[in-house]
Amino acid sequence: MTMQLDSSGKLRHLITLKDIDKPMLEMLLDRADSFVTGRGALPRNGSAFAGRTVANLFFEPSTRTRSSFELAAKRLGLHVLNLDVRTSSRTKGETILDTIYTLEAMSCDIFVLRDSEPGMPGFIADNVDPWVSVLNAGEADRNHPTQGLLDVLTMRQHKRDFSQLSVSIIGDIRHSRVAHSTSHALNTLGVGQLRLIAPESLMPAADEFAGAERHTDIATGIADADVVMTLRIQKERMNAAAIPDSESYYRQYGLNKERLALAKPDAIVMHPGPMNRGTEISSEVADGPQSVIREQVANGVATRMAVMMTVLETLHGK
Ligand code: NCD
Repeated sequence: MTMQLDSSGKLRHLITLKDIDKPMLEMLLDRADSFVTGRGALPRNGSAFAGRTVANLFFEPSTRTRSSFELAAKRLGLHVLNLDVRTSSRTKGETILDTIYTLEAMSCDIFVLRDSEPGMPGFIADNVDPWVSVLNAGEADRNHPTQGLLDVLTMRQHKRDFSQLSVSIIGDIRHSRVAHSTSHALNTLGVGQLRLIAPESLMPAADEFAGAERHTDIATGIADADVVMTLRIQKERMNAAAIPDSESYYRQYGLNKERLALAKPDAIVMHPGPMNRGTEISSEVADGPQSVIREQVANGVATRMAVMMTVLETLHGK
């Protein structure tokens, strides 16, 4: 397994939240919070590492995560290289590691990687130079650590005490790297209750999400929840026959106003995006007063700033 911490216990890479302990998680959340600014306000900047370079390598589509990493880097005064992977050498047969070595030779300090192959970010992290860091921006159906962090940051801003929280996650949990990473963080923070709501076909394997309740019925799954998170169906990770039909899915599992009313009156609604309105969530709920979906997006930039600052400090001292 990839060593995410250096020999003195500082964060060097971020591949998974699974073995990030509570003090480190809380340090990252506090730090991210310090970078959050109100809408319309001038974003906070930092320049201790100005001139260092972040290379974004996204071998899977992304809008918000990629722009979020890019903005976070720029707000820290870093240079950003966005590789157009459709025209990159990987398609010409150059191995991904050769691409990394080439970029290392050009003095890239941080690689932000999204890939559909399980284990790829960790594999890259195991093979980079000692002055280089790898951040996982989405790994197959397994890990999406910065999303997990921004999700718990958003919950913490609204709810504070995790031990009192009941969190319900609805939808394609089986294929969701977001659900995996968010649940890792919730477990570390000692969440009161985690409920997974999905049809059997989208439930994770029995040995995953230890301690979580499983509900195929959305009504019992949502009842009295403090946080309700919906997920996109990961069609790209299923064969065509397994993809649920969107209308019947919405009828059974779509988050609408009536269903949300079963949760606590002050429950917050979350979604990592991209949303399919009318499949997993109604527009009324997505844009309604309980939705914190755009706050998640804002927190994403702050979270990535915190993570990049932290690994740069590990690599290059304060
Ligand atoms: C998610 C992802 O790519 O895992 N999106 C994101 O990063 N905000 C969720 C998804 O694609 O459904």
